[in-house]
Amino acid sequence: MHPLLNTAVKAARHAGNLIVRYIDQIDRIDIEKKGRNDFVTEVDRAAESAIIDVIQKAYPKHAILAEESGSKPGHDFEWIIDPLDGTTNFVHGHPQFSVSIAVRRALQLEHAVVFDPLRNELFTASRGGGAHLDDRRMRVSRVLHLPDALIGTGFPFKALNHLDDWIRTFREVLLRSSGIRRAGSAALDLAYVACGRFDGFWEIGLSPWDMAAGCLLIQESGGLISDPHGQQEHLSSGNIVAGNPQIHPQLLKLVRSATH
Ligand code: IPD
Ligand code: CA
Ligand code: CA
Repeated sequence: MHPLLNTAVKAARHAGNLIVRYIDQIDRIDIEKKGRNDFVTEVDRAAESAIIDVIQKAYPKHAILAEESGSKPGHDFEWIIDPLDGTTNFVHGHPQFSVSIAVRRALQLEHAVVFDPLRNELFTASRGGGAHLDDRRMRVSRVLHLPDALIGTGFPFKALNHLDDWIRTFREVLLRSSGIRRAGSAALDLAYVACGRFDGFWEIGLSPWDMAAGCLLIQESGGLISDPHGQQEHLSSGNIVAGNPQIHPQLLKLVRSATH
C-alpha cells in the first residue's frame, strides 16, 4: 500500500473507532447548529482533530481542507477530510455514517479512503492502482438498464434552492428505475456505487469533502462520474451523477432534463 494511503487508512480507522465509542452516549453529546438542518457535534470535531494529528505527524507540510476546521495551506498534497459523513444519522443513532479522506495533488485525486466503522468496511483506492473493499478488488455493478438499477440519492435538505430540480429528477428516476434509496452518507453512497451495491447515484449541493474520496473509488472501480451537464465539474459544483458505465448516461439524461 502506498505510504500516503496507509496514513489515510490509519487516520480513518482512528476516527471511526473514536466515533463508535460515543455511540452509547449520544444523548449526552454537545450538538451545535451550523445552518438550516446542518449540525456539528463534539464527535465531528474530535474525529477531525484525530485525523489531522495522524496526517500532520507523517506529513507536516501538506495542505488540509477539512469540513469543521477549514483549510490550511501547504505544499504538494492536499488532504480533503470529512471526519463524520452522516452527522444527522449519527445524532439519531441511525447506523449509517462514515469517515472520508482523500489526497489530492494539483487537481488530481491520488488516494481515497471511506471507512464505515460500524460494519468495519474499508473502501480504498489509489489512482491507477484500482480500488478495494477490505482486501478484495472492487468493481462497479454490471446492471445494463435503468429499469433494473438501484439508484442512490441525497435530499437537498440544507440548500432548499435545489429542491424543485431534485423533486423533478426524483419523479423521473422513480418512474424509470428499480428503486431509489436515501441512506444519509454521501461518501458511503459513492463507495456503494464503486462496489456495485448501487448502480447509480445523484445528488446536488454537496461539498468537496463529501465527494472527493468517493469519486476516486468509483473511477478506480470502472465507474463514471460527471456533473448534471455531463462535464467534469462535479467537485467544484457539488452536483454529481455517478454510475456504472451503462447506467451513468441513462441517469445523466434524466438528471440533465430535470435540472434548470
Ligand atoms: C451530509 C451527508 C448527506 C448529504 C448531505 C451532506 P454531513 O454530510 O453526506 O448524505 O445528503 O448533503 O452534507 O453533514 O453529515 O457530513
Ligand atoms: Ca459530509
Ligand atoms: Ca461531516
